[in-house]
Amino acid sequence: MDLNEIILPIKEQIKLFDAEFKSAIRSNIGLVDIIARYILRQKGKKIRPILVLLSAKASGGINKSTYRAAALVELLHTATLIHDDVVDNADTRRGLASINAAWKNKIAVLMGDYLLSRGLLLSLLNGEFEFLKVSSVAVKRMSEGELLQIQKSRQLDMDEETYFKIISDKTASLISTCCELGAVSATKDEGIVAHLRNFGEYLGMAFQIRDDVLDYEGKKATLGKPIGGDIRERKVTLPLIYAFENAPKQTGKSVLRLLKNGKRGSRIDEVIKFAETYGGIGKAHEKAEDFILRARDELNDIENSDAKESLLKLTEFVVDRVN
Ligand code: IPE
Ligand code: IPE
Ligand code: MG
Ligand code: MG
Repeated sequence: MDLNEIILPIKEQIKLFDAEFKSAIRSNIGLVDIIARYILRQKGKKIRPILVLLSAKASGGINKSTYRAAALVELLHTATLIHDDVVDNADTRRGLASINAAWKNKIAVLMGDYLLSRGLLLSLLNGEFEFLKVSSVAVKRMSEGELLQIQKSRQLDMDEETYFKIISDKTASLISTCCELGAVSATKDEGIVAHLRNFGEYLGMAFQIRDDVLDYEGKKATLGKPIGGDIRERKVTLPLIYAFENAPKQTGKSVLRLLKNGKRGSRIDEVIKFAETYGGIGKAHEKAEDFILRARDELNDIENSDAKESLLKLTEFVVDRVN
């Protein structure tokens, strides 16, 4: 599924979002503005603002506050990615050097804080307290998710339930927020808002599972970020969890040892092979498909429109995407 086709109903509106985002990120401080311009050159997929716009259009119509919600979520997302690359020691993002690689950790941490505050201020200064309430909960959950993930990578005792909690907190919370805010900006109907919130939650779960699968089977050139990074950082994600369940105990134990002590290069190749051999990658993919079915169900009670059609297409994109 092609993203260009999905965004057709909101093509003009994305241009207005771009302008809103650009003006929200610029600064009078020279260094901040240089990095802001660099961020504008790093092309992300804009899935989150796209979700805000489509959710608003599917539940009543896009208006001025919808654009601020779209800018808010992309600012929060960008801040999180900048921090995440510090946490994960990642040197590449969106095909370019990450902020920490280009300017060092110190500046990346502060730049992330700057974007986060610009996002929250955008809602505050416009009196959009519902946006603030919903997005602040997401920011809290995203930090908790990343921290729980670090805790688990130290203990190396991951299970499916904990994994789902981590990805719900670190990824699905914001994606769900996107759909909720889009709906909130367009309707007062609580039922519609709840359906879109749940749609985003399930879509977000599938999105992160796909991201974790891509860490095993993606190509760095198309993905724009390093492959095998999760293994390097000792993150046990769904493909590995399922492979451990299927593999003979002894084989599992030796992979666990490899994860703990192995040399970088060989470790990554062997762990990927292990996840493939014991069906972990295939089963993780199936799980992502399950979440997608649940997401699609949430849209049953939403009136048909071109925007709803695009939300449905987006569910296909999420599980097939290669970047
Ligand atoms: C990356 O998100 C972080 C995850 C939650 C997996 P995206 O894949 O949406 O990143 P960009 O914005 O397109 O670069
Ligand atoms: C998603 O996890 C991170 C956030 C929610 C910020 P990852 O660490 O897997 O994201 P990538 O792969 O670096 O984009
Ligand atoms: Mg990362
Ligand atoms: Mg990842």
